[in-house]
Amino acid sequence: MAKRLGVGIIGAGFNAKFHIRSWVSVRDADICGIFDKNKERSEEAALLAKNLKVGEPKIFNSITEMVADENIDAIWICSPNFARIETMEEIASAIESGKGKLIGVCCEKPLGRNVAEAKKMVELVKRVGLLDGYLENQLFEPTVQRGKDIIWSRGALITGRPYLARAAEEHGGPHSPWFWEGTLQGGGVMNDMMCHSVEVARFLLTEPGKPRNSLTPIKVTAHAENLKWQRPHYADILKSNSDGKLDYINRPAEDYARAVVEYKDEKGEKIIVEVTTSWCYVGAGLRLSVELLGPEYSMGINTLDTDLKVFFSREVKGNSGEDLVEKQNAEVGLMPVVGNEENTYGYDLENRHMVQSFLSGKRPEENFEDGLNVTELLMTAYMSAEEERTIAFPPPNLDTFIPKVAQGAWNNRNK
Ligand SMILES: NC(=O)c1ccc[n+]([C@@H]2O[C@H](COP(=O)([O-])OP(=O)(O)OC[C@H]3O[C@@H](n4cnc5c(N)ncnc54)[C@H](O)[C@@H]3O)[C@@H](O)[C@H]2O)c1
Repeated sequence: MAKRLGVGIIGAGFNAKFHIRSWVSVRDADICGIFDKNKERSEEAALLAKNLKVGEPKIFNSITEMVADENIDAIWICSPNFARIETMEEIASAIESGKGKLIGVCCEKPLGRNVAEAKKMVELVKRVGLLDGYLENQLFEPTVQRGKDIIWSRGALITGRPYLARAAEEHGGPHSPWFWEGTLQGGGVMNDMMCHSVEVARFLLTEPGKPRNSLTPIKVTAHAENLKWQRPHYADILKSNSDGKLDYINRPAEDYARAVVEYKDEKGEKIIVEVTTSWCYVGAGLRLSVELLGPEYSMGINTLDTDLKVFFSREVKGNSGEDLVEKQNAEVGLMPVVGNEENTYGYDLENRHMVQSFLSGKRPEENFEDGLNVTELLMTAYMSAEEERTIAFPPPNLDTFIPKVAQGAWNNRNK
């Protein structure tokens, strides 16, 4: 086994930069390679890694070249959702042709745009014998980890297990046009962000040390709408931000969604997950909120309840930016600042866990099977929203289901 892990990153956009910045808190591993279809993006990300002293990454011209390099032990897939399968297929075929010495691969959320794609990712990673990590950062938020620990070791131990978890991720809308296009992304905000909320809620409700299947999903009820971005003024903004490609009047994706997932625990007790998500929340910036409730206790997290706040008077006129918080919406007034976003959102602990798992030859605790389970829940939620009824889990045609929004054929205005 390697003593130090050489990591190669595929896709050098917004998310890859979060990973690179988090690397100052990761031990025993370096960023040794970058591959992005856009060379300028690769160069920017490589420079960031060098400046932070978290590696001297080589810029590769292909995935195959990166897999073959002797300094690369593991790959982090951070490219867009529409490239998942071709990316994993190229990694697998490079390995099968005898190239490289990879130990493992990590993949950003979502594992696939639908169940068939997520299953293909699991099949490919198993076929080539790699360890696999599913990059669901919210499980690794220090507040989530510490909150789970305290709730289960005190409240639950003495008065009984928690029965309800609520989670939400909300902001004003994604930064790249491809996220907004249902056919490319796989859905709207439900696919993009509810994947975090269903998994963090499930994680908090799972007894520490127990496997994922200690909770059995039994029913899903969901609702999806477009509340803001189909309004003509906002549809025009999307059109002009995408060189005319996005057409939210005729081909929107949902910018608001909610779901209730009903589980049973090993004793047959009902456990409830309530999740809500939106691209139409206008506050200071990205807001992640979580609650966990049990018979004699509760806990709550809101990432905009920060300890640091700044105030700028109306005389402070400058460029708009994201220097205070991700998806920032304003530059004046009293504003919350997230001191270390990589840490708060869970990237530090997530990457430490993945690196240490790979170095010790163990499958990470959050892996592709979990990514597949999340996709199965989300696809059931889309079915429920489309059919406007509660769906028993798992529904019969889950493996072949593609949401209408992912087919470019969803428009609730027509209902
Ligand atoms: N965990 C999180 O909270 C979180 C946050 C943001 C994004 N993500 C996920 O990370 C992934 C990337 O999102 P992003 O925000 O960085 O997007 P982005 O648009 O900012 O960046 C994507 C990058 O990938 C490159 N690219 C496109 N096709 C490629 C291909 N076939 N091979 C290699 N590179 C390619 C693009 O040139 C671009 O630089 C998505 O799957 C997204 O869902 C996760």
